[in-house]
Amino acid sequence: MHNFIAGDTNDFSLLTRQVSSLLEGERDLVANTSQFAAFVYEALPELNWAGFYLLRPTRAGGGEELLVGPFQGKVACARIPLGRGVCGTAASERRTIVVANVHAFPGHIACDSASNAEIVVPLIKEGKLYGVFDIDSPTLNRFSDSDQTGIESMVAAFLAATDMH
Ligand code: SME
Repeated sequence: MHNFIAGDTNDFSLLTRQVSSLLEGERDLVANTSQFAAFVYEALPELNWAGFYLLRPTRAGGGEELLVGPFQGKVACARIPLGRGVCGTAASERRTIVVANVHAFPGHIACDSASNAEIVVPLIKEGKLYGVFDIDSPTLNRFSDSDQTGIESMVAAFLAATDMH
């Protein structure tokens, strides 16, 4: 697997095509979420976590929350309520959130003390929210505007290739 050099030099158009070709012929949720998390973790430099939080019923019932899914990196918090932390905020507001310095983000949930910057992209297909894709980096201010656009395009290729449920 090729590792590219810092931030803006990633060729996201190529990476997005590689996601489509990696997932071609397989639509299973567990298979594709696993493959996508592993691909992103290898392809982008300076990451310490990349993976999914999927919308699932709460253990108590009566509502939904985020539950950790396939990822690469250290063990993480299993469940995150909607509206909490960067992941829960991106899910409830249905928009990508880029955090230059997680220590300055109110309510940030620290799973790995090495994390300093984060990007969370909501998984939305045909108007329905399925969860988020979360990436953490030890590098402050790791994710630029072009990283955001590029990562959103990789997530869109994942969503197009996968049967979400
Ligand atoms: N930092 C996230 C929690 C998930 S871990 O980073 C893997 C948050 O604040 O939502």
